Amino acid sequence: MHERPVIVALDFPDASSALEFAARLEPSLCRLKVGFELFVAAGPALVEQLVNRGFDVFLDLKFHDIPNTVAAACRAAAGLGVWMLNLHAGGGATMMQAAREALDTVGGRRPLLIAVTVLTSMDDADLNSVGVEVGAREQVLRLARLTHECGLDGVVCSAAEAPDLRVVLPQDFVLVTPGIRPADVDAGDQKRVVTPNEALRIGADYLVIGRPITRAADPLGRLQAIVSNLEA
Ligand code: C5P
Repeated sequence: MHERPVIVALDFPDASSALEFAARLEPSLCRLKVGFELFVAAGPALVEQLVNRGFDVFLDLKFHDIPNTVAAACRAAAGLGVWMLNLHAGGGATMMQAAREALDTVGGRRPLLIAVTVLTSMDDADLNSVGVEVGAREQVLRLARLTHECGLDGVVCSAAEAPDLRVVLPQDFVLVTPGIRPADVDAGDQKRVVTPNEALRIGADYLVIGRPITRAADPLGRLQAIVSNLEA
């Protein structure tokens, strides 16, 4: 198991609620994910504040643009001190390699660079409507292989995809998995969920967990319970 495999999804609408919530967590127990909503509302200053508080930050902005633009965005993200960032593998090999090369040139600790393959909100029919004639499962494998060939560190994937990816990709290729629910927590709008322990067992490296922690009456207590269960 990696050190601190839990990434708490900081899905809040503004900087003050995000910072207030982060103050209730411990950087020694988890990492944090900052996504579109919070980044658009609060900007890079919020990311720097979280980093300064000692948190490893996964900047989940899923870049997808021409290679030069994505490379520049990755360099800017590295400048904020983020631990991990991502892009869409569908942007292609040239884009992914440009991003990877841009991060190789930044000083200090290089952030992990991972890719989104197929959004879990898309099914075979959605893919077909945008001209992808293979099914989601095959497309996920294809894009994950391409991601690896381009020298990236890993992919975001659902727990359902993790076992297949573990078979075809090297052990050190990082799998980051959302859709996690402790056994005693309501699944909400997530359709296919697995428990934290099950996700690690089937090959995930890092677990993105949002509402089970952000909406808990005692977030730190919930986080501690998840972590000690994983360690047991
Ligand atoms: O609250 P919950 O645990 O469902 O949050 C999961 C987080 O992971 C959210 O930030 C969501 O946007 C993200 N995510 C996801 N499914 C994906 C990719 C990302 O739930 N396929």
